[in-house]
Amino acid sequence: VSLVSTIAQAAGYPERQITMVVPFAAGGPTDTVARLVAESMSKTLGQQIVVENVGGAGGTLGAARVANADADGYTVLLHHIGMATSDTLYRKLPYETLNAFEYVGLVTEVPMTLLARKDMEANDLAGLIEYAKANKDKVTVANAGIGAASHLCGMLFMSAIETPLVTVPYKGTGPAMTDLLGGQVDIMCDQTTNTTKQIQGGTVKAYAVTSPERLEILKDLPTVKEAGLPQMEVGIWHGVYAPKGTPKEAVDKLSEALKVALKDNNVSTRFAELGTAPSPESDATPEALKAKLESEIARWKPVIEAAGQYAD
Ligand code: MLT
Repeated sequence: VSLVSTIAQAAGYPERQITMVVPFAAGGPTDTVARLVAESMSKTLGQQIVVENVGGAGGTLGAARVANADADGYTVLLHHIGMATSDTLYRKLPYETLNAFEYVGLVTEVPMTLLARKDMEANDLAGLIEYAKANKDKVTVANAGIGAASHLCGMLFMSAIETPLVTVPYKGTGPAMTDLLGGQVDIMCDQTTNTTKQIQGGTVKAYAVTSPERLEILKDLPTVKEAGLPQMEVGIWHGVYAPKGTPKEAVDKLSEALKVALKDNNVSTRFAELGTAPSPESDATPEALKAKLESEIARWKPVIEAAGQYAD
């Protein structure tokens, strides 16, 4: 009977609205990606997808919320590279990274931009490094907590210049950007999904982009390689997860809807305006996300361990 009810249930899946947890505050880069993808997926699935922002602890509280949710297909998580880095950064996580989730698929890979408040004295990366070293006890770096993409990029920066700066954690880089615009915090490394408009509007100072090549929409912004810090090259990949045990039929329907979303004109147009692009359809699969997560845990573990004090 249980098999029949499971199939029947999955066959009718989804029968009610789905919650997509974003492990950072509203208005930030992760939230922006999630709302675009959720809007398209809900059309394909025929049920509303409600985004729930669960910020804190660099995204690990939101991930835990989903790891412990009912495995019925009605709670999913949209998270990024932080799912991999947190596995090394946190001695004790409230979930087992590689055993707590079903994988739906990859979504997009977003470049990061190294910014400072508008009136920062330095006009190029060399000048910013000089300023940071000379004022290391008072220069503040905003991030979204240990495990956030902004934390990773800040760690790469401080490690590259061998200078620990004062880090200021927020529940997301949406709220952090407010303080950067207000000059309450000095530096932030954040994704183009949250910074493109500000850079184009001249409301912040931008020094470099972490992609291998310059971005079409931010042509004047040098890459970290050009600016002399190739070790800061990083792309923030995003994936959709469900709690371990979610019925395969539900996961498959979510993956199919994700594939459609990545080909949705509205999604790809909006992503292009924000300096990114949808992952290829072949990556919108459970296997692709699982492989990415496993390889990224292995890739960043030694980097984080070598960064030591800069990872705190
Ligand atoms: C981060 O990891 O920095 C997050 O993307 C910030 C956010 O989405 O608010």
